[in-house]
Amino acid sequence: MNYQHLLTVIASNILRVTINREQKLNALNKETLMELHDVLTKALSDTEVRGIILTGTGEKAFVAGADIREFSDFNSAEGRDLASDGQRKVFDLIHHAEKPIIAAINGFALGGGLELALACHIRVASHMARMGLPEVSLGLIPGYGGTQRLTQLVGRGNALEIILTGNMINAEKALQIGLVNHVVPADEVITKAEDILVDILLRSPNAVAAAIRAVNASLIDGQDGFSTEIEEFGNCFGTADFKEGVSAFLEKRTPVFNKK
Ligand code: COA
Repeated sequence: MNYQHLLTVIASNILRVTINREQKLNALNKETLMELHDVLTKALSDTEVRGIILTGTGEKAFVAGADIREFSDFNSAEGRDLASDGQRKVFDLIHHAEKPIIAAINGFALGGGLELALACHIRVASHMARMGLPEVSLGLIPGYGGTQRLTQLVGRGNALEIILTGNMINAEKALQIGLVNHVVPADEVITKAEDILVDILLRSPNAVAAAIRAVNASLIDGQDGFSTEIEEFGNCFGTADFKEGVSAFLEKRTPVFNKK
């Protein structure tokens, strides 16, 4: 896969996507977002890919936000399109992906960069990482789902403090409020994300996808997540993975699930 602003590598069924605009602190311009849409869409239907890591190139930034220069002369309609297009093609795609996606936050994760990490299923941060939603200092608010996903993750009070002050928080504070799952030394961010994926990849791919759908249902307005859970739970009983998982347990062996 060849992209202008992304580096990709697949090893042991894990695709690593590195946003590669180091001179601009990996800010998300239009082409980068289009490339992310393309690489993710392909990865989600590629049987060789069973888990994905998103990270940024260099030691300084994961992603320092949407590209400010690009939207500097936008009007309201263009602003609305920017947010809805980006949400649909990248951020919601990640959120609803049925393969696990982990953000390896190697540095600044600001604005759209933090929103990208928030859309992922799990976040691992370098102890050097700094995170924030500084849009209010530009006269804006987050537009790629940040007001919703941050609130769901850290609660209304913490989210409002981060969004209204526009200040950055360090990795330790992010861990304390549940914004990230793990904080590790800078050179261990990718390894930690890989270790988590290796564990997930040992489990039933069908059950992993069903669990993501059920957990995500808790966040969809008007959807009864408990009903979704009952439905998904029931469906699992009809799968080969269920038969293999239970047989393996009863036979005291490691299950071998179909890769999909
Ligand atoms: N969009 C466009 N360009 C960006 C960018 C963004 N979100 N973030 C950084 N850059 C560019 C800078 O313009 C600069 O480019 P230049 O060398 O051509 O001038 C380059 O990346 C390096 O950034 P710089 O500001 O010089 O680095 P720094 O170490 O002094 O500061 C930050 C780092 C992250 C604190 C600072 O870049 C910043 O505040 N970025 C914007 C964050 C933001 O508001 N994001 C939300 C956008 S909605």
